[in-house]
Amino acid sequence: MSERSERSRRGRPILDVRDLRVHYSTPHGDVIAVNGVSFSVAEGETLGLVGESGSGKSTVAMGVLRLTSPPGRVVGGSVSVKGEDILAMPEAALRRRRWRELALVPQGSMNSLNPVLRVRDQIRDVIETHEGKQPRRRLKERVLRLLDLVNLPARVYDLYPHELSGGMKQRICIAMAIALEPSLIIADEPTSALDVVVQRTVAQTLLTVKAELGSSMVLIGHDMALQAQLVDRIAVMYAGNIVEIGPVRDLFRHPHHPYTRHLIASIPSIRERKPLVVKDLRRPDPRTPRPTPALSEVSTGHFAAIPEAGDEGVVISHA
Ligand SMILES: Nc1ncnc2c1ncn2[C@@H]1O[C@H](COP(=O)(O)OP(=O)(O)OP(=O)(O)O)[C@@H](O)[C@H]1O
Ligand SMILES: [Mg+2]
Repeated sequence: MSERSERSRRGRPILDVRDLRVHYSTPHGDVIAVNGVSFSVAEGETLGLVGESGSGKSTVAMGVLRLTSPPGRVVGGSVSVKGEDILAMPEAALRRRRWRELALVPQGSMNSLNPVLRVRDQIRDVIETHEGKQPRRRLKERVLRLLDLVNLPARVYDLYPHELSGGMKQRICIAMAIALEPSLIIADEPTSALDVVVQRTVAQTLLTVKAELGSSMVLIGHDMALQAQLVDRIAVMYAGNIVEIGPVRDLFRHPHHPYTRHLIASIPSIRERKPLVVKDLRRPDPRTPRPTPALSEVSTGHFAAIPEAGDEGVVISHA
């Protein structure tokens, strides 16, 4: 089955990204951060986007939302949401769709809440910026419902960010992202800065919210164990490319690309002492142009790239 027929099998995609390319200009030449990435997300689906630091995950997220800013620029590809081309759309039309259709929980967003605004005002701002002035009472009801949806007590309504824990702040960011009930939520490492227990509860909150709104989600992260519990399919990024994508179970049982194997092998286990030190990932220089790897179908809906010579050198040293 081709990737195209696989997409039609899973139903109409909410998001369809084709051959997305994003570069950053630097004094030493262009960094090819995203090198021809293609994937789609079906209605109601959660796609995990994983990969090591610097592999291009956040750059994909910003590119998809057309939020790439200098020195970054989108140099090619297409992004469509519900069949509409996001990259070609006039800015005003895009603004209308952002947060209604497409919402982002940005990486590190819990540290970017406005310290001098109470929670209620930050969430109210999001709603009023997009929907105009609202009757106070209705607005309050909406904010309280959003707080409830992300599992926060009503007292948080009047608090300032410094009065909240990290997990609570992250939930506020999720509440802001879902305020307009978007069709697609992109959450960029929403749990990375949190302790393991809070990570799980925030992740659960995201899933509950997603189910409640009937949204689709792209969940960016490194934590394969967490991803395994949360997502339907996983896309693995390596040096600006998706090197493997497939249903979560199949990808865990039969990983094909060496980098996917490495990610899965790194999941800690109580029964087995795992290697601690990654000796050599031999990541290619991000300024050297590379062909976009062709993905071939290894089992139904599971696609993997044949690794290039350098990529085979994912070596793990046993500490
Ligand atoms: N403003 C910038 N200028 C130059 N290069 C950049 C810039 N931002 C990102 N890059 C480069 O683009 C590549 C991808 O970065 P990106 O932030 O998308 O990675 P990531 O996968 O999200 O990493 P992390 O897991 O650490 O968040 C990296 O090589 C990075 O060095
Ligand atoms: Mg990132």
